[in-house]
Amino acid sequence: MQIAVLKERRAGETRVAASPDTVKKFVGLGAKVTVETGAGAASAFADKVFEEAGATIAPSAAAAAGAADMVFKIQKPMMAAEGADEVGYLKAGSILVAHLNALTEKPLMQALAAKGVTSFALELMPRISRAQAMDILSSQSNLAGYKAVVDAAATFGKAMPMMMTAAGTVAPARVLIFGAGVAGLQAIATAKRMGAVVYATDVRYATKEQVESLGGKFIVVDEEKMKAAQTAGGYAKEMDDDFKKKQAEAVHAEVLKADIVITTALIPGRAAPKLVTAEMVAGMKNGSVIVDLAAEAGGNVDGTVKDQVVTTANGVTILGHTNMAARLGRDASSLFARNILNFVTPMLEKGTAALKINWDDELVKGTLVTKDGAVVHPSLAG
Ligand code: NAI
Repeated sequence: MQIAVLKERRAGETRVAASPDTVKKFVGLGAKVTVETGAGAASAFADKVFEEAGATIAPSAAAAAGAADMVFKIQKPMMAAEGADEVGYLKAGSILVAHLNALTEKPLMQALAAKGVTSFALELMPRISRAQAMDILSSQSNLAGYKAVVDAAATFGKAMPMMMTAAGTVAPARVLIFGAGVAGLQAIATAKRMGAVVYATDVRYATKEQVESLGGKFIVVDEEKMKAAQTAGGYAKEMDDDFKKKQAEAVHAEVLKADIVITTALIPGRAAPKLVTAEMVAGMKNGSVIVDLAAEAGGNVDGTVKDQVVTTANGVTILGHTNMAARLGRDASSLFARNILNFVTPMLEKGTAALKINWDDELVKGTLVTKDGAVVHPSLAG
C-alpha cells in the first residue's frame, strides 16, 4: 500500500492532509507514505518532520500521486484548466480521500470516474456516533468557531471582559451568535472564556440546552416550529416565511445591542439563510464587528464580501473569510489528518496494509462517490 499526500495548491489553503503523527500510524500499519515536498510548509510541518515520521519526500505532485494506491488531500484536486492537472496525476484504480464538494462538483466527479479513481468525499460522512472521529466538517468547524471569536476580538477596539479599574469600569462585550451547531457552540465557549456576555439563537430547539450549559442566553423564536426544525441527520431544515419573519423580529433588537455578531447558520445543499439584514447592520454601533462564517455559502449577513474585510459607512467591520480553518493551519491539519486516519484504518489489513474495504459499511457507502469508472453516489448518479 503506497499512500501519497499532496501539497494543496488552492489560494488561501494552508492545511495538509497528513501530520507526522498520522504518517507514523500509517507506517505502523504497514503502508509506505510519500509526502510531496513542501506539503506541510504552510502548517509548520517541514519535510524533515515527515521524514522523521517515516515518510519519503517526493519532488512533485506527479511523482507522489503517480505511484500511489491511495491519495490524501484536503481540498478537491485541480483539473488542468485550473493550473495543475492533479486529476491527471492520479493512477487509474487508485483511491482518493478528500473534501471533494462532491454534490456541487459533478464535472470533477465525472472526470475522477473517467480516470478510474475510487473517490471518497469526506464531507458526506454520515452523522452517526461511530463516525464522529472521522467528521471533517465537525473538526474544522470547531476551530472555525474559536478563530471567529479570536478574529473578532482582535478587530474590536474594546475589551472583551468586564474590568474594574481605579480609572473606571470597562463593560463586558456583548456577543450574539447565530447558529449553535459545532462552530457556534465553540464560539460561545470561547467568547464566554474571554469574559463576554453571550446570546445565541438557532432554529433547532435542541440547541437551547447546549447554549445554556455553556453559559449563553438562548433566544427562542417559536418553540413549536423549532422543535420540528431538525432532520434525522441532526441538520437544520429550511424554515417557512412566517418563522423567518418572527426570527428577524426576535433578533433585531439583540443585533443592535451587540458589539460582536458571529453567524454560523448553514442548511446543507442550500444557500445560507440571510439572518442579518442591511437594515440591522445599518443600526449597529460604530466599532462593532461581524464575522460571517457562512460566507462560502453566500453569507448570513447582508454586506458580507467573500474573503474580504469590509467596513460599512456606520463603522461596522464585516469579516468574510471563507476558509477559517486554514487560518489555524497546524491544528486544522492535525485534526483533518486524524479524521482521515480514523476513516482509512478499518480499510487496511493490519501488518500488510492490504486493502480490505467493506463496501457494505454505512460510512463507506455514504462517502463513496466514484467507483469502477462511474459516479455512484445516490445523490449524483443518473
Ligand atoms: P451546520 O454547519 O449545518 O449549521 C450550523 C448551525 O446553523 C446549525 O446548528 C443549524 O441548526 C443552524 N441554522 C441553520 N439555519 C438557521 C437559521 N435560519 N437560523 C439560525 N440557525 C440556523 O451544522 P453543524 O454545526 O455541522 O451540526 C449540526 C448538528 O449535527 C449538531 O447538533 C451536531 O452535534 C451534529 N453533529 C453530529 C455528528 C455525528 O454524530 N457524527 C458530527 C457533527 C455534528
